[in-house]
Amino acid sequence: MTATAWEDVARHGGRLHNTTLNTLFKDDVNRFQTLHFCHHDLLIDFSKEKIDAPALTALVALAEAAQVKTAADAMFAGDAINFTENRAVLHCALRQTTAAEIKGQSGAGQITATRDRFLGFAEEVRSGSYRTVGGDAFTDVVNIGIGGSDLGPCMAVKALSPDADGPCLHFVSNVDGSHLDDTLRRLDPARTLILIASKTFTTPETMTNADSARDWLVSAVGERAGDHLAAITTHLSAPVAYGISKDRVFGFWDWVGGRYSIWSAVGLPLALAIGAGRFRDFLAGAAAMDQHFKTAPLPQNLPVLLALIGIWRRNILQYPTVAVIPYDQRLDRFPAYLQQMEMESNGKRITRTGDESARKTAPVIWGDPGTNAQHSFFQLLHQGTDIIPVDFILARKGRNGLARHHDLLAANCLAQSQALAFGKTAEAVSAQMRAAGRSRADIKALAPHRACIGDRPSTTLLYNQLDPYTLGRLIALFEHKVFVQGQVWGINSFDQWGVELGKELAKPLAESLAGRAAMPQSLDSSTAGLLCSLRKES
Ligand code: F6P
Repeated sequence: MTATAWEDVARHGGRLHNTTLNTLFKDDVNRFQTLHFCHHDLLIDFSKEKIDAPALTALVALAEAAQVKTAADAMFAGDAINFTENRAVLHCALRQTTAAEIKGQSGAGQITATRDRFLGFAEEVRSGSYRTVGGDAFTDVVNIGIGGSDLGPCMAVKALSPDADGPCLHFVSNVDGSHLDDTLRRLDPARTLILIASKTFTTPETMTNADSARDWLVSAVGERAGDHLAAITTHLSAPVAYGISKDRVFGFWDWVGGRYSIWSAVGLPLALAIGAGRFRDFLAGAAAMDQHFKTAPLPQNLPVLLALIGIWRRNILQYPTVAVIPYDQRLDRFPAYLQQMEMESNGKRITRTGDESARKTAPVIWGDPGTNAQHSFFQLLHQGTDIIPVDFILARKGRNGLARHHDLLAANCLAQSQALAFGKTAEAVSAQMRAAGRSRADIKALAPHRACIGDRPSTTLLYNQLDPYTLGRLIALFEHKVFVQGQVWGINSFDQWGVELGKELAKPLAESLAGRAAMPQSLDSSTAGLLCSLRKES
């Protein structure tokens, strides 16, 4: 069934192979009308992708053949769709306003109670009713966590800085001591709350940073350092053993993947920054996107369409990477957040049947905000030898009171997608140079260097403004996109076994470097040589 659908999509790929975006736009004056889609103020324009309506219809048929709807229903119902770990995938239940009872999943009934607890704690800290050992209000909060226990809250706190009116948030993730040192050096331990966020409460980077941060607190507040600590984890007893009162341990469940955990107590830093009310708006935005994903017919379903365009780019046009360019400085961690969401979820080569995938799966996701990126790597996007599709993200309205800046920002965003799509021919360059009075020799020598061949695809996402509700929608949009792609590629988007090997290998090397163990036996000559050299240095 899917084989036929794939063949059909490939046939459209062949049909459009030699067509250019220029031609597609000339042939269809209503192209924007046909290929942009909306959900309320959220608009996604696919018209600058090398696709047309019949090809998109074939892609939708592929999603149908891959039973995307049935798979989504199974996820929402709490089936153990993460089959390599025999776990349900229920992060969407965390953004529902009513208690969700889902197929007997342990903890499902406690969602609202747990949410009320961590949001209540956020308000206590913000109002100063939960105080420092010295009786003051906390001025600073440091979140210690890595991967999903860092990227989501770190990205969101920055994205929603206009809404932040609580203590100042800081994030430490890297076990490189410089990260912790550079952060704590500027803070007063007597006024700082430390959050230890770890689903497992065993991740060596996080626990090493937590140990050092606790020592730092002890030096200032002594035995009551535990009062300046709170924990977010699925292993509720571990923080208590670590010296944190259970009043300040906020749980979540094994059916919440780390990279999908911002909706749980992992979102506590965001709640501390923007308050419980706005955090609920953030959840409501995601819930609205869930509802759209559940109910909209596939041909108008935004996450489904975004996923299918990604599949078209990756499997038909064979582009290995995607640049995500938010024209919003406050979204500067959004590409990094998407890297974990997309690449840890769909960077897999074994399918549900246990076979090697016949198709390429997740592309490399990378990016940086515009307009800065225009002055660094956009040269390659316009004239490099690889074609790199771009996802542009832009608000209609900025949130900084400097409207003049936003107009220029938005103009640049539109101009870049225009330049990528339509380019500028050597003839047009030559005519311009002639009009400027340049010599024939100059024109001949320089026109090829100055021309942009164009025909480079992009998608543009627009929304009114980046508020908590919209950020919630945006994240959920990409989460469901990743889900749909995983389903079409036939892989498990919810495990991450690939990261385990490196963790396993690091343990004996760390022991050896710390001088607690000899060099591991039977090391390859490269690792042994490097280890030896590092040991000499220390
Ligand atoms: O190493 C990958 C990973 O397991 C991520 O999936 C996860 O978000 C991160 O490590 C952190 O794990 P934890 O929250 O258990 O410390």
